[in-house]
Amino acid sequence: MLHSTFVLSILLSSVSAALTDSSLEKHVDSLTLSSSFNPIKESYWTGYPHHRRTPFAVSSDGSTAYLAYLDSSETDVHVQEIDPSTFKAVGDEVTVSGAKEAGGLVAHNDGFALLTNEALPSGTADAPADSTPVPVLYRYTSGKQTWKTFLGGPGVHASDGLSASPDLNGDLAYSETAGMYGAYFVVTDYSGWAEGHFGDSIQYVADDGSLKTIAGASSSWGCSHNTGIAFEAADAAPFASICADDQGEIWLNSETQGMSGVKISNENTTNGASNEAMGGMSGSYSGLARFIDSDSYIFSWVSRGAIDLTENAWMGSGYTNAQNRTNNRNVAIATFTDKKTLNGKEATSEVGAADGDSQVNWITTGTADCQNAHVAAFDGTNALVTWEEIAQPQCDFIAMGCKGAFTGSYFQLVSNGEKVGEALKETDVFVAGDIVTMSDGRVCWPYVAMDWTLDGPVSNPASVSKM
Ligand SMILES: *[C@@H]1O[C@H](CO)[C@@H](O)[C@H](O)[C@H]1NC(C)=O
Ligand SMILES: *[C@@H]1O[C@H](CO)[C@@H](O)[C@H](O)[C@H]1NC(C)=O
Repeated sequence: MLHSTFVLSILLSSVSAALTDSSLEKHVDSLTLSSSFNPIKESYWTGYPHHRRTPFAVSSDGSTAYLAYLDSSETDVHVQEIDPSTFKAVGDEVTVSGAKEAGGLVAHNDGFALLTNEALPSGTADAPADSTPVPVLYRYTSGKQTWKTFLGGPGVHASDGLSASPDLNGDLAYSETAGMYGAYFVVTDYSGWAEGHFGDSIQYVADDGSLKTIAGASSSWGCSHNTGIAFEAADAAPFASICADDQGEIWLNSETQGMSGVKISNENTTNGASNEAMGGMSGSYSGLARFIDSDSYIFSWVSRGAIDLTENAWMGSGYTNAQNRTNNRNVAIATFTDKKTLNGKEATSEVGAADGDSQVNWITTGTADCQNAHVAAFDGTNALVTWEEIAQPQCDFIAMGCKGAFTGSYFQLVSNGEKVGEALKETDVFVAGDIVTMSDGRVCWPYVAMDWTLDGPVSNPASVSKM
């Protein structure tokens, strides 16, 4: 039974030792929501349950945190300030009326910025049909809206075609050094050459709310049928970005913004899916983490591996299709010395190659299906990699999720790209919102306490209102 929502933190007592039970600290029933929330989101195609993301962020001075969540009515996003030491609510929540998804959150010392999507008022010129929501960034200061900037819809990159975001899958990042927000999100175009197709867009907004078109950083259309996003701030645009396409690859595309750049991996894909590499529906957060006081990054994803590469005639040279090596998905990581440089080898593009995944740094290698992978940095070299397992998975769909009894959440310490000790296993803790690094070096994330099942498609809507 669902009963409450927790905020949880994990404490790393000694950076070189493996995680133990005492590394994990649970803050049960600490937060009361003023509105109700449905913690389950059906995934694309399979209908299997995913945790509905609740974006979470802590301000740079460490004094304040915010949690954003979609109202259980599926309209209105609520943003609640939280005390980052007690994890209790502070003051009244702010409601962004008409917002359709909590897509990303940045905490400031004086307020927050929220990435969401909303329908335009009826009669708006050049609006998408059927009230399809468009992406938008809100800034609130001391509980009041300071500005609101559309990142798609009428007038935004009009000469390339107009974009809408029916589901706000993506992420928001902020660089204090650059004084800039970056947002990377899935779009579908409703005019122009890409009309009717899904892809993605990267947009930058300055501190004053002005939308900036930055050459070599902003993008109206990038990764075809984006099937996963990982995004992190850098000290200047372009920010660090990764996309999974539906053609067979995962790219570090900070410099290209497209389905090109540094090839992190080959993946077996199908139309609109690549194994929910970055979490699928309600995923695309905390997949890429920047090490503290460093220019280096770590990325985590799930993969079925890649064998028997064949020519991708549609895309041409440099692109391949792959068969999956395994029935289940395992967890992998890649590290980057900076936002554009992969540590180690790129994935091969050699047509005919038997092994398309020999470059992968696997965190798991078994037959359990792994999903909902995330990563966070404790400091300059140590990271937490986490995922959920189904020990006996049934995987009926090519390049989609699997079903079966949930057998645990895992928390693995990774140091300089290597596993340290065994993963900590928990069955009553999940990651369901952004993992943030606190000023004292703990990492912390929100989740809803519930009997989590991955047995099959979502059957009942759920609602929680007590935290
Ligand atoms: C993905 O793998 C399946 C076999 O599981 C294969 O039938 C399919 O063609 C592969 N996809 C691509 C794009 O090659
Ligand atoms: C590839 O993935 C599909 C879907 O999960 C699965 O049915 C098939 O058995 C997998 N292939 C291998 C070689 O494991």
